[in-house]
Amino acid sequence: SAASDVYKRQVWGRGSKNATDILMQGLEKLEYRGYDSAGIFVNGQETAAKLVKSVGRIADLRGKLGIDVSGTAGIGHTRWATHGKPTEDNAHPHTSTSGRFILVHNGVIENFVELKNEFLMNDTFKGQTDTEIAVHLIAKFAEEEGLSTLEAFKKALSLIQGSYAFALMDSEDAEVIYVAKNKSPLLIGLGEGYNMVCSDAMAMIRETSEFMEIHDKELVVLTKDNVTVMDYEGNVLSRESYTAELDLSDIGKGTYPFYMLKEIDEQPAVMRKLIATYANEDGTMKVDQDIIKGIQEADRIYIIAAGTSYHAGFGAKMMLESLTNTPVELGLASEWGYDMPLLSQKPFFIFLSQSGETADSRQVLVKVNELGLPSLTVTNVPGSTLSREATYTMLIGAGPEIAVASTKAYTGQIATLAFLAKAVGEAEGEVKAKEFDLVKELSLVAQSIEATLSEKDEIAAIVADLLPTTRNAFYIGRKQDYYVAMEASLKLKEISYIQCEGFAAGELKHGTISLIEKGTPVLALISNNVEVAAHTRGNVMETVARGASAITIVEEGVAREDDTIVVNQVHPYLSAISMVIPTQLIAYYASMQRGLDVDKPRNLAKAVTVE
Ligand code: G6P
Repeated sequence: SAASDVYKRQVWGRGSKNATDILMQGLEKLEYRGYDSAGIFVNGQETAAKLVKSVGRIADLRGKLGIDVSGTAGIGHTRWATHGKPTEDNAHPHTSTSGRFILVHNGVIENFVELKNEFLMNDTFKGQTDTEIAVHLIAKFAEEEGLSTLEAFKKALSLIQGSYAFALMDSEDAEVIYVAKNKSPLLIGLGEGYNMVCSDAMAMIRETSEFMEIHDKELVVLTKDNVTVMDYEGNVLSRESYTAELDLSDIGKGTYPFYMLKEIDEQPAVMRKLIATYANEDGTMKVDQDIIKGIQEADRIYIIAAGTSYHAGFGAKMMLESLTNTPVELGLASEWGYDMPLLSQKPFFIFLSQSGETADSRQVLVKVNELGLPSLTVTNVPGSTLSREATYTMLIGAGPEIAVASTKAYTGQIATLAFLAKAVGEAEGEVKAKEFDLVKELSLVAQSIEATLSEKDEIAAIVADLLPTTRNAFYIGRKQDYYVAMEASLKLKEISYIQCEGFAAGELKHGTISLIEKGTPVLALISNNVEVAAHTRGNVMETVARGASAITIVEEGVAREDDTIVVNQVHPYLSAISMVIPTQLIAYYASMQRGLDVDKPRNLAKAVTVE
């Protein structure tokens, strides 16, 4: 496709307060998601309407705002460039040639080149984004064909293919915001004397806890007193609102220098909270019977996810298979949307997603729903798209995860799946499931995490010693440790920019060992499995013989005097949780010691809402 432009961002408007304040506060709340430029438009009541854009941070945009930039309605946006560099011209909002129409957009318009060639050959464009084509198209239909703004918008929507969340304003009637959605997330927030719309509830919870869903291919006309939802034919639809239980107090960073460290530290509490959520006082599981039945009836579990969540799926695979006696297959969401393998007779899908908004995962869910197959979303965000659209949801309840590098969501996902695995196993009468005292074992995991967290200074020193200037590194491990190695290396890459591979320890010698040079850091993960531990140690020696600087992260039961980091023993089903903690800290300190922005690594976004 003619891949294009933007992704996560936010849009909205409102009535009585100063729209600029609301927009700026909202954009700030969403900074964690990752962006490279930002902009707002407000409908100035006393002064002329204002459009302000800036490359860089929201603080840069704030620096450009004069006091005259105020109004009663407006739209704002942060852009994460995919097509067209992060320049001011490419930043949203985009305007029509006359300046009358103003638009922000999330998503990708796949046929924007075709639309440009067919309708806009004589127009001049300021930048390279697909969004600019959309706003010119709307303007053409309104200004040349005399259509009303709503009709012009509808006509453009009938021609546009791809994913979008649009918010459109017409400066000739600038109290109205026109909204449309397909595939990209968008939510209405309702208030007394004001209404708003945004791609993420998080940015609206300061103003309201009352929300209304918009479905794909729906259009909304929003004023301060009215929200009209309609389909693309113009039929008005009735839609109930709902109250969301989001807690703003979770969003603060407190005294922490970075959110990531706060979130790493929260993991013991997340484990204990999960016990309270999914276990009864007597130790029996509190898991929805329909989910248990759904999995009991399945002949295979398919876990679909991206990034860290995909690795969490691997972290839980062995436990799920062992306790439920059902084979588990992992699928990368971005591959499965196009390359779905031959499915078993009775599949059950589990979608793992911190944000619940990942477009790659959602496209698979859309197909799963078309096939009429059962699905469960395990997510940290109640009311998110993947939660709403799957048959069932289990919440991780880890509290907002703000740092781009995911930590507590990974450990929380594995722990949540542990409750599911045990509940299904018990229903099956599986002895292993009955004997697995999850409440006790997860409490031990919480203690093990706490023990590792108390070694922060030692871990920071190891990092200072080993990784100060290195360009590359390896994590190796076998079985469960291999899966943790994949996550550990992703974490290091994401925030320290050290190129790092997570490798199956035994596979290294079949080619990749050629990359080991004098001083190459090799970090070995060795959990308590006597046979495997010995082999991994052997593989470490092979790299040391070729000059590697090895560090070993070893579980108590198989630890030796000379090991670098020792992790408290936990149940083998749960070792991915405790073994990942030192690697999160290693990534954190590597990034911090290099003076990087730990929470907002370059090029990354927290929730990736384009395919
Ligand atoms: C982005 C984030 C990753 C995350 C992945 C999946 O790439 O930067 O940290 O693991 O999306 O996100 P999800 O919200 O679906 O877990």
